Amino acid sequence: MLDKERIPKHIAIVMDGNGRWANNKGLPRLAGHNAGMVAMKEIVKHSSAIGVEYLTVYAFSTENWKRSVDEVNGIFKLLVLYVEKELRELNKNSVRVRILGDYSKLPEEAVKSLEKALKKTDKNIGLQFNIALNYGSRDEMIRAIRLIGEDIRLGLIKPENITEESFSKYLFTGEKFADVPDPELVIRTSGEKRLSNYLLWQSAYSEFVFMETLWPDFTPTEYEKAIEEYQNRNRRFGGRNIT
Ligand code: IPE
Ligand code: IPE
Ligand code: MG
Repeated sequence: MLDKERIPKHIAIVMDGNGRWANNKGLPRLAGHNAGMVAMKEIVKHSSAIGVEYLTVYAFSTENWKRSVDEVNGIFKLLVLYVEKELRELNKNSVRVRILGDYSKLPEEAVKSLEKALKKTDKNIGLQFNIALNYGSRDEMIRAIRLIGEDIRLGLIKPENITEESFSKYLFTGEKFADVPDPELVIRTSGEKRLSNYLLWQSAYSEFVFMETLWPDFTPTEYEKAIEEYQNRNRRFGGRNIT
């Protein structure tokens, strides 16, 4: 049973397995991405329902540009459709949308529709839904270092005063951007057990739950199973085991 008092504040998900899901059914990969959007929509709704404060999903990595032009464009088209169809529902549930990653590199239509979603949900006070798009942790850290270099050049900060906390502010998840706490729980579907350049800094002490389910088959029931597993973990943060 889910302990409603101990729901993680921030859950991050690697939504993986859309291609295999489609392949298993003899469908084109884009059918898998479409089914993946439907699953994502349900997980956003369920996150609000159970009181998750921040949900971050990996939708497109800095490495995903290696895929065919057709697949890449198809993914962004589906994203535009999702935003257009869901904006009203997101507002109804007071969901605030944020993007992690340099989304200016996406096709113009996607940039426009994302900016609309950012603007129209900006004042919402419910779930913060972060979509990682053209996101990669290494890219994120290099950008942070460049911004810090800029601030040093301007005399705003001194190298000796940089701390873990002040460094974090320059990341996409930091105070200057989406402003999200570190995730307590990271879920990856489809049986792959790696981070694939996702939230490397932020997940230093996260609990990881890897599930065999392919992302389009991921339901609120599966989601609760992952949260239950998290609730059974013993988080020590390098300290002593308190049982
Ligand atoms: C995840 O599903 C979605 C994206 C990376 C955009 P995949 O497309 O990676 O699915 P598999 O891993 O090929 O099954
Ligand atoms: C990670 O999945 C990125 C997203 C889910 C958006 P990939 O399918 O791209 O990762 P690898 O290639 O299996 O590491
Ligand atoms: Mg994959």
